[in-house]
Amino acid sequence: MMTAPAQAEEASFEATLARHDRIEPRDWMPERYRATLVRQIAQHAHSEIIGMQPEGAWITRAPSLRRKAILLAKVQDEAGHGLYLYSACETLGVSRQELTEKLIEGKQKYSSIFNYPTLSYADVGTIGWLVDGAAICNQVPLCRTSYGPYGRAMIRVCKEESFHQRQGFELLATMMRGTDAQRAMVQESVDRFWWPALMMFGPPDADSSHTAQSMAWGIKRDTNDELRQKFVDMTVPQARALGVTLPDPDLVWNDEKGGHDFTQPDWAEFRDVVSGSGPCNAQRVAHRRRAHEDGAWVREAASAFARRQQQEPQQQEAVS
Ligand code: ACO
Repeated sequence: MMTAPAQAEEASFEATLARHDRIEPRDWMPERYRATLVRQIAQHAHSEIIGMQPEGAWITRAPSLRRKAILLAKVQDEAGHGLYLYSACETLGVSRQELTEKLIEGKQKYSSIFNYPTLSYADVGTIGWLVDGAAICNQVPLCRTSYGPYGRAMIRVCKEESFHQRQGFELLATMMRGTDAQRAMVQESVDRFWWPALMMFGPPDADSSHTAQSMAWGIKRDTNDELRQKFVDMTVPQARALGVTLPDPDLVWNDEKGGHDFTQPDWAEFRDVVSGSGPCNAQRVAHRRRAHEDGAWVREAASAFARRQQQEPQQQEAVS
C-alpha cells in the first residue's frame, strides 16, 4: 500500500499532467515515466549522432563550395542536436558515457532511416526534404512534451530542422531545373527514400507498444499513424511543386477523410532494419564505435585539464 506522502507525490504528478504543465527534473515522477523518457530521448539522441554519417560521407564530394558550406553546417547542427538530447537525458540520471556505450554495444536503438545508404548527391537533398521533413512533423509536437528539458531542447532542434528541410528542397529544386540526368537522379533518390521516410514514424498504432501510455503521460502528443498522415498530406503538394512523382500509385486524396489514402511501407523490412539487419546497420555502429575509440585521448585530456583546474585554486590558497 502507498504511504500518504507517496500518494501526494503521485497526485501532484497527475495534476501537473492534467494542467498540461511541465514535469521538471526535481519533481517526483513514476519510475516507468522516467524509463520511457530515457528510452525515447536516448534513441532520439543516437539518431541525431548516427544521422551525421549518411550525409557526412558527401562533405568531401560536394559539387560546389556553397553546397559544401551548407552540408557542413547541417551535419554540425545534427551533432548539436545529439548533445542537447544527451543533456536532457542526463537530467534523468543517466550519463552520456553510459548512453554512448549502450549505442555502440547495440543495446539501444536509433532511427531506422539512417540504416539506408546515400548513393548520390541528390540523396543529400532528399534527406533534407523528406527525412528532415518527417523529423519536423514528428518533433514540432514534442516541443509540448510533458518533460521540460526534452520540450525545451526540441524548440531549438525544430528551428534548425526547418532550415535543413528548406536546404534539401532548394537543392532538389535546383537539380530539377537542371539536366535530364539530374532530374532522373532526383527521382531515383525519392523512389528509394519515400518508403523508409514513412517508416520513421514507427509501426502502425495497432502494433505500437508504447504509444497509448506515452500519450497518457503527455510524452507523445500524437500517434504514429496521425503523424504519418500529416507528413503525407504535407509532402504531396511539395512533390508537385518540385515535379517529382511519389512512388505510390495508390496515393490519392480522399475527400471524406480530408487526407490522402496511401500504401503502407513494408513493415517486415522495417522490423528487419530495426532488429539490426538493414543495409547499413553494421557499418553505422562500427563507424560510431571507431570514432568513440579514436576520441578516447580527447576525453582523457579534457578530464585531466578539469582535474587540474579544480586543484589549482586549492594550491593557490595553500601558497598564499
Ligand atoms: N526506428 C527505429 N526504431 C523504431 C522506430 C524507428 N523509426 N519507430 C519505432 N521504433 C521502435 C521503438 O523504439 C520501439 O522499440 P523499443 O520498445 O525497443 O524501444 C518499437 O519500435 C515500438 O514502437 P513504438 O511503440 O511506436 O515506440 P515509440 O512510442 O517510442 O514511438 C517514435 C516511436 C515515434 C520514433 C518515438 O520514439 C519518437 O517520437 N521519438 C522521438 C523522435 C526521434 O527519435 N526521431 C529520430 C529520427 S529524426 C532525426 O534524427 C532527423
